[in-house]
Formats: sequence, structure tokens, C-alpha cells
Amino acid sequence: MSTLTETSQASPVLRLNLSGGTGSEPSRITCTPVHPTFGAEIAGVDFSRPPSDHVLNEIKDAVGKYGFVVLRDTGMTDQDYVDFGSRFGELAPAESRRFPTKNLADPSNLYLDGNIVKPGELRWFMAKETALFHVDTSYDARRARLTSIIARQLPPPGTGGATEFGDTRTAYDDLDEETKALLEDKVGVHSHFHSRRVALPNFPTFKALDPWDYPMHRHKIVVTHAGSGRKDLYIASHLHHIEGMDPKESDELILRLRKMVEQPKYVAKVYYQQPGDVVIWDNTAVVHRAGGNEGEGWSGKHVRDIRKWMVYDNTPEEWGMNERGTPKHLAGPVIQAMFDELHGIEGKVYDFDED
Ligand SMILES: [Fe+2]
Repeated sequence: MSTLTETSQASPVLRLNLSGGTGSEPSRITCTPVHPTFGAEIAGVDFSRPPSDHVLNEIKDAVGKYGFVVLRDTGMTDQDYVDFGSRFGELAPAESRRFPTKNLADPSNLYLDGNIVKPGELRWFMAKETALFHVDTSYDARRARLTSIIARQLPPPGTGGATEFGDTRTAYDDLDEETKALLEDKVGVHSHFHSRRVALPNFPTFKALDPWDYPMHRHKIVVTHAGSGRKDLYIASHLHHIEGMDPKESDELILRLRKMVEQPKYVAKVYYQQPGDVVIWDNTAVVHRAGGNEGEGWSGKHVRDIRKWMVYDNTPEEWGMNERGTPKHLAGPVIQAMFDELHGIEGKVYDFDED
């Protein structure tokens, strides 16, 4: 595995070769690769005012080329950050009662009253799936293309809280020809209940919910990535089965692909260093996961306030193999209702041995 701190000093600084800029204008940003095959840290963007179209196009090109990019210490307010996101495409609607800015989601570990999510609470268990490599919203009919996180308040250094990325384009390149032929034109079927069960297979609330009882959504597994022209493995912890395959063979293949991309050589890790740090990734070029605790750990103990926007896919694959206009299916309320049924409305803390 490669981390920014380990590799950035040794990496060459590259000037981007623009395809989306204004032609004669010179490149304004520098991209320092953070891993041998993907990911870059971008410098040279002045966030004290909205970036020019030229700079924005350079950032877009960098996301396409590298799969994910890191922008340090941007100083953007929530509204600046959402306005910046809206220039990448159509933002997915999002809302949090913790802050007023629209189209900004709240993946923090905080309740409305500022208390930290603690072990044994439903939100604690719900968040476990984020530790598995996934792409955002593949369980919906309409998929997100870009996701971005901005750091607002970080746990102490050395306690973890990174975001990790897996290079699914290079993993595809490295597949044997037989597997490539098998996967070509195959359709993956995704479920948000499935990934929760994969993360915690014995947790009674998730066990009681059968993914087959709820909508699942279909997306091709191998798609040519619009930002780079390279083929990508669109896999995720949400991937429940592969259509047209024997269930056992499908399970084995999904596990093999997930294990493949988890190998350290395909993984890069990004640490948020200060509030205002921003990461943007392309879900159709990389998978990602929450890096979890390190050292003495942060979860259950320290605030990790991060905020997020997502931009819908802007390619013909936006709706995958699903009917356009299919509504979003929200798993959260169903899971909450099942939890309440099993453990009682008052029983907010559930003692469960994850191992
Ligand atoms: Fe995610």
C-alpha cells in the first residue's frame, strides 16, 4: 500500500497535458502522483475565489487520468464547496439537519446534538460497510460518478480516519484473459442490504433483511471509463450477484475480484491533514473505503466531521441496465424499522460481538 506521506517526496511533479482547457493557455496546476498507478495531489489552485473554467477543466482532466485527486487546505466554506461541486455536473440531492447547506451529505460520526456515535448504536453498525471497498450508489438505478469529501474537524493525527482507494482500472488490466472474456458484457446486481450483511454477517438486524425482498439495481461490471478510455471493474461490496451465472460461481468470482483489488499494490491511502482538505474521486475508475482506526483509534472517541457531495454520472451508463427514472431506494429507514422491531425502540444500544 502506498500513502501520500510515503510516496509524495519521491514522485515526479507532472504538468497536465490538457484536453479540456482553452487550448493555448498554459497549465495552471501541478499533479504529484501519490501511487505508481493512480491518484494525485493537486497544487496551484487558488480557492480564495471560484477557480476559472480553465483550472476546473484541468482538475476534471486530472480526476479522469488519476481516478482520485487531493486538494489541500482549500479554505472553502460549505457553500463554496457545493458551488465548486456543481461545476462538475448535476449534484445528487442531499440534506443534513446538522448544517443548512443543500446538496451536502453528512457522513460524520456526529448526531445532531454533537454527540459522537458510540459502539453498539445502530449508526455504528450501519457505518461498518464503509470499511469495505465499494463504489457509491451502485445499489441505485442512477449511479453517481464523482464523490468528494471535505474535512471539517479531524481526529488526532495517528488515530486513523483516512480514505483508501483501490485501482480498479489497473486491476482489470492485470486480470487473466479468461476472466476478462467471462466478465465482458456481464451485469452486476447491487443491493445496499447485501453490503451491510457482508460487513456484519451475524448482526441480527441485517440478517433479518433478505436483499431479494427489496429492489436491486443492475450495472455492467466492465465499462470503458469515460475519463481515460481505460476499462474499469465496476465492483463493490454492494455487488450481490452476477446475472446469468451459477450462484456459487458468481459468489466465488465476486469474492475473487474484491480480494484482488484489496491487494496492497492496488491500494492508496489518503490522510486528511487539516480542515479544508478535499478529495474527489471517480466511482467509475476506483473503489474506496473508510480506512478505520490506527494507533489508539478515533471512532467512538473523537469527532470526525467530514462532508460530502456526489455528482451523477454524465455518461450513457448513468442508469446502467435500469429503467431511466427508477426512484432511489432508501435502505436506512427499512433497517431502522427492523432494528426497532428486534431490539425495541428504547433499546438504542445493542451488545453484539462483531467477531
Ligand atoms: Fe462511499
